[in-house]
Amino acid sequence: MKKILVTGGLGYIGSHTVVELQNEGFEVIIIDDLSNTTIEVLDRITSITGIKPTFEQIDLKDKEAVKHFFKYYNIDGVIHFAASKAVGESVAEPLKYYENNIATLTYVLKEMLANNVTNFIFSSSCTVYGQADKLPITEDAPTKPAESPYGATKKMGEIIIEDTSKATDLNAIALRYFNPIGAHESAKIGELPLGVPQNLIPYVVQTAAGIREQLSIFGDDYPTEDGTAIRDYIHVVDLAKAHIAALNRLLENKNKSKCEFFNIGTGTGSSVLEVVNAFEKATGKKVNYKIVDRRAGDITAAYADTTLANKELNWKAELGLEEALSSSWKWQESLT
Ligand code: WQD
Repeated sequence: MKKILVTGGLGYIGSHTVVELQNEGFEVIIIDDLSNTTIEVLDRITSITGIKPTFEQIDLKDKEAVKHFFKYYNIDGVIHFAASKAVGESVAEPLKYYENNIATLTYVLKEMLANNVTNFIFSSSCTVYGQADKLPITEDAPTKPAESPYGATKKMGEIIIEDTSKATDLNAIALRYFNPIGAHESAKIGELPLGVPQNLIPYVVQTAAGIREQLSIFGDDYPTEDGTAIRDYIHVVDLAKAHIAALNRLLENKNKSKCEFFNIGTGTGSSVLEVVNAFEKATGKKVNYKIVDRRAGDITAAYADTTLANKELNWKAELGLEEALSSSWKWQESLT
C-alpha cells in the first residue's frame, strides 16, 4: 500500500483530499500544526472512511522535526497543503507568510530528497495569474506580480519546485486552484469558520444562518453582465479528486516533464450575484446583502480553461455550483 504524506491534512482542502486518498486505497500520514484547524477533524475523517490516518503534530518550521519525520516514515509521495492562506493577513504580516509558506517548503523538499522521496504535489493558486489578459485562463497565461505576500508565496513556491525539479530527482505537479467551495456530502468535514470569513461562500452561509448581519458585496461596477466580479467556484471534493489524479500521474511515471502546472477549476465563471441567487435557489434561504465599494486588490474575472487537466490528468469537475452551495449550507447546519 503506497504511503502518502499530506501536510496540512487536517485543513479544509487537505481533509477532503485525505478522504479521497483513503477511498483510493492509499495509506495516509498527516502532518498538521493545528494552527488553523482542530484535532477533531481527524476523528471526522475516520468516521467518513472508517480508517484512522496516522497523525503527527509537527510545525514544519522545525527543521529537526521534519528531518526525523522523513527518516522514520518510508513515504512514496507528498501532497503539500500546509501554508498560511489569508490574503489580508499576509499584507499585515509578510514575514509570517514568507517563513511559514516558503522556509517550510524548502525544509520539506530538502528532507524528501535526502530520503529519495521524489513525488510532490504542490498546492498553488490561480492568484498567480492576477487579472489575466485572456479568459478562460490557460496554464501558459503569463503570471503577474502578486497582489499580496500570500500570492507571492504561491508564485515563489512554483519557482522553487521548478528549479529543484531541474536540479534533482524531484518530480512535481503544481495544481493552480481556482475558488474552492462546498463540503463533503456527509457534512462531517468542511471549511472551519475560524474568525470573520474573508471568502465569499463562508460569509454567505453565515449570513443565511443569522451569524452575520448582512453580506457586503464588494462592488457592482465591474465590467461584467451584472456588475459584480466573476470567479470559478469549484467543489472541494472535485478539487480533492484532482490531487489523486495528479499523484497517480507521478506514481505511474506518466508526467511529461519534471514540473507540471494544471489549472483546477470548473471552466465556468459565476458572478457574486449569481452565487447569491444560486445559494437562495439551492437552499431556500434568503441572503441579506448590500453593495459596497470594491475590495482593494480584487480582480474583475477569473475562470479556468481546464482542457489540459481534463486531457492529461483525465480529470474533470463533476459537481455544479448549486450542489456545492447546498453542501456548504448542510455543513453550516451541522455546526449549529
Ligand atoms: C470571491 C468574490 C470578492 C467576500 C481568494 C484568494 C485565493 C484563494 C481563494 C486561498 C470576489 C467577493 C468576497 C465578501 C464579496 N485563497 N466577495 N464579499 O478573492 O477570488 O480568492 O480566496 O487559496 O488565492 O485570493 O475569493 O471568496 O475572497 O472572493 O463580495 O464578503 O467574492 O470581491 O469578487 P478570491 P473570495
